[in-house]
Amino acid sequence: MSAKKKLIVANWKMNLNIHEASVFVHQLAQTIAVHRDVEVVLAPTLLALQSISLQVDRRQFKLAAQNFYWRDFGAFTGEVSAAQLRGLVDYVLVGHSERRHVFHEHAKDIRSKVQAALRSDLKPILCIGETAHERSLGETNGVIHDQLLAGLANVTSEEFHNVVIAYEPVWAIGTGNNATPKDVEKAIQTIRRQIEHLYGKTAAENVRVLYGGSVKSDSAATYLATTGVDGLLVGGASLNQHEFTTIVEAAHHARENN
Ligand code: 13P
Repeated sequence: MSAKKKLIVANWKMNLNIHEASVFVHQLAQTIAVHRDVEVVLAPTLLALQSISLQVDRRQFKLAAQNFYWRDFGAFTGEVSAAQLRGLVDYVLVGHSERRHVFHEHAKDIRSKVQAALRSDLKPILCIGETAHERSLGETNGVIHDQLLAGLANVTSEEFHNVVIAYEPVWAIGTGNNATPKDVEKAIQTIRRQIEHLYGKTAAENVRVLYGGSVKSDSAATYLATTGVDGLLVGGASLNQHEFTTIVEAAHHARENN
């Protein structure tokens, strides 16, 4: 299999105002080296995307939107569409657990968003993962199966090349409860098995699958060395210059592990 670039995504969530985000990007630009084998993506607040897009060197940082609405244009007060984000960002997060659980986005919304992203030539990072309750009931594989099936319905094989999957167990997000490498490996195996079923063996090998959930500088290398992991989706630790820089360096030093 050809070597895949590691993908490290910083999800700043609802943190940093426009000015703070700009200062932080400036700081990160000083310490994060450009490596040919690592793609670094920043997902700041929507408000800061425009100014940061003018500030960054796209060889160093690509941009992602944390959210958008699935219709392209129209009377949807307060919303921003993928069509409006086109050209500004390369990636969009879809199905993040906070969107699912705090904002009650359903499978139907998530499916529509994946399609809207692809329609506007943006790469969706489809986030999936079970809650603590689902895990305690032994439903992890079932949740992964359902969320993949729902999110990818109507996505063609050709479009699927542009999809990234992020496995983020809800119980590991922002809690400091680390999933073990074994948990992650098993979940990602389940993901690739299902992708193989839907799109074939080559697609299953080639799709980039990220892990997210309480990743820190001291755990990044372990996750990156875990079979099947192509990168990381980082929340809290991506707001700290030293932490995030160390995580990107860990990706550069990680070996191909599929
Ligand atoms: P934490 O890294 O803060 O657990 O957040 C993970 C996450 O939700 C990234 O999208």
